[in-house]
Amino acid sequence: MLNGKRILLIVAGGIAAFKSQELIRLLRKRGAAVRCVLTEAGAEFVTPLSLQALTEDRVYSDMFSLTDESEMGHIQLSRDADLLVVAPATANLLARMAAGLADDLASTVLLATDKPVLAAPAMNVRMWTHAATAANVATLRGRGVAFVGPNEGVMACNEFGPGRMSEPEEIVAAIEALLAKGRPLAGKRALVTSGPTREAIDPVRYISNHSSGKQGHAIATALACLGAEVTLVSGPVAIADPPGLKVVKVESADEMLAACLQPGAVDVAVCAAAVADWKAARPASAKLKKKPGAAPPSLELAPNPDILATLSKAGPKRPKLVVGFAAETENLVANAVDKRRRKGCDWIVANDVSPAAGTFGGERNTVHLVSAGGVEEWPTLAKEEVAARLADRIADHLGRPRPAAAAE
Ligand code: CTP
Repeated sequence: MLNGKRILLIVAGGIAAFKSQELIRLLRKRGAAVRCVLTEAGAEFVTPLSLQALTEDRVYSDMFSLTDESEMGHIQLSRDADLLVVAPATANLLARMAAGLADDLASTVLLATDKPVLAAPAMNVRMWTHAATAANVATLRGRGVAFVGPNEGVMACNEFGPGRMSEPEEIVAAIEALLAKGRPLAGKRALVTSGPTREAIDPVRYISNHSSGKQGHAIATALACLGAEVTLVSGPVAIADPPGLKVVKVESADEMLAACLQPGAVDVAVCAAAVADWKAARPASAKLKKKPGAAPPSLELAPNPDILATLSKAGPKRPKLVVGFAAETENLVANAVDKRRRKGCDWIVANDVSPAAGTFGGERNTVHLVSAGGVEEWPTLAKEEVAARLADRIADHLGRPRPAAAAE
């Protein structure tokens, strides 16, 4: 419920603006008071009158209106809310937010606010995937702006892909989660590895494993939801990139290590990837062919770099907190305790990856958290819940702001 919460809803110019009306209805049903800022472009899609009727409050649009500025200055408007929600957040408004422009009431209010901001992007798929938008979203995430969506689907322009604004129910859920949790990782940088690696034997064959990337991707999303600026380094996976994060796609362990060393200093590194321990010592440049009557070729292996151990022993560049995973099929806890010591990381999330446990590719995970303080057994949870719990623990460890500070 959102009883007594004050939401300032900024409606920018996109076809998804029609969904903002349903969003207002749902928010008010949950007890929130909603006040709207409508941009000039937004007014091409919804009328101030309909927003006014739904909010039962006046709608603010004009930066230089004498009435607005005398009754409710833009500073006051931005402060007199518990949360600012930008829905739809167009590519243009995100770019102006990232650049710190204050050239209309919406952007000025967003620049002037000291309250949490949630953006629900909505735009054409090519605009969403454009490097400029990705950079703007990363910049805003780094400043603590939270994102919900966009979803993937057929768009108003008949193209398919990510760019559809989240449904009003999803935005409400994100608002409730945000108001409940705050943004304890705002301003913190996180690195997450996820998925398997692929080690080429020849141009058509490789060594790999069953990792789906679901757990690592969920952790990246959970950290971002708490406000962290996340770089997700992912091996080849079949799942979608989490929206709004910096995603670096790699194939081999060597590439994954190089990508992990790129972002520079990070506050926390979570190595959830199932990195292949070995690679072909000499990958063939052409496809290996069967020779009639000849014995099968033997494969000479060479060790891969250990990314977790490298980050854990990075000297002054070591992240403040390094979290590894232990994928085990037997002696789970004992192996994990030993692994934590050998790799030099702070925490190990130990999970059973024997086929009976259904961890690889499955939706749920049963983990133990191993730290210097001991071993904690967690119940079987959805991978998203494991991720949310871990992100919460990371926020506690990195110094969650005191509730009074977070609420104000
Ligand atoms: N890891 C890594 N680089 C490697 C191997 C593993 O960064 N070359 C990381 C994984 O991301 C995970 C942790 O180390 O966080 C443990 O991975 P796991 O596969 O359980 O252990 P291994 O190091 O491969 O050891 P073993 O094969 O003996 O279980």
